Parts: sequence; structure tokens; C-alpha cells
Amino acid sequence: MTQNEIDDSKLDFEHIHYDEIASNVFLFMLAGHDSISITLTNATYILATHEHIQDRLRHEIDSFFEINSTFDYELIDKIEYLDLFVKEVLRMYPVAIQAISREASTDTIIQNYQINQGFSFVLFSLNKTKCEMLFR
Ligand code: HEM
Repeated sequence: MTQNEIDDSKLDFEHIHYDEIASNVFLFMLAGHDSISITLTNATYILATHEHIQDRLRHEIDSFFEINSTFDYELIDKIEYLDLFVKEVLRMYPVAIQAISREASTDTIIQNYQINQGFSFVLFSLNKTKCEMLFR
């Protein structure tokens, strides 16, 4: 059997098949590349056009490294302004505009709209992130 052929009898929850690894690597590259590169581009644009934001962010990061000689995910998470900045970049320029799709598991009614079980829909992020009732 070649690595490209799946033997169903050998699929279980304890072992991962070559094809699963290959398809996950492909998915990670597809989902991870543009999302990060576009977000970094937007973040750089905001920093370049809003000097006061850039100054404050640099100050917060410099202060962080006066106390910490190293960093990891948990430590970086403590730089509050950095967290707020990234969230605001993603709110203003959401990259995954149509990435959230769902299927109704039961019949329901949302704001007078009848949604039947099995109905598929895509949430459009811009309606939410630009909503003046939520963000002023
Ligand atoms: C700015 C960065 C990113 C944003 C805004 C973003 C946004 C999203 C959103 C909104 C979804 C759909 C989630 C849902 O349906 O509930 C999603 C799914 C996914 N993202 Fe990202 N993503 C980002 C970066 C990445 C990176 C770096 C990777 C991988 C290296 C990645 C891998 C995936 C995968 C594999 C899924 C599908 C998950 C699933 O269906 O179970 N994303 N992403």
C-alpha cells in the first residue's frame, strides 16, 4: 500500500494517518498564511498612520522588557495595550469576513426569520465589527 491509499480497517482514534497529516498541513498553510500576512499589513498601516498609537505600544513593550528578559505566549498576553491593539486591528479590518459558517441543529426563529434544521448560513463579520450599536 502506498502512503496515498487509506486502509479503512487501520483507521482509529489512536493513530494519525499520513493523509490526515498532509491535509492538516495544507489546511494550516491555507488558513494561516493570508490571515496573518494581511493582519500584519493592516497593523503596520495603522502604526504608520497613527503615531500616538505606535508611541504608546512601543512604550508598553519597552516597559515589559525592562521587567522580563524573555517572553512566551502567557507573558505576552499580559501586555494589555498590545492585546487591545490587535483586537482593534481585527475589528476594523477583519480578515476572516466569511469564515464562520454554521448549520442549524434544530428549527428556530431568530428575529422573525424561520430557520429550519439543516439550514446552512455564513456569518458576515463586517456587519458585526462595524455595528455602531456595539462599537461607538
Ligand atoms: C489573524 C489571524 C486569524 C484569524 C482572524 C482567523 C480567523 C478564523 C475564523 C473566524 C475561523 C472560523 C472559526 C469558526 O468557524 O468558528 C477560522 C478557522 C480556522 N483557522 Fe483561523 N484565523 C487566523 C489565523 C489562523 C492561523 C495562523 C491558522 C493556522 C496556522 C489558522 C487555522 C484555522 C483552521 C485550521 C480553521 C478551521 C477550524 C475548524 O473548522 O475546525 N487560522 N479562523
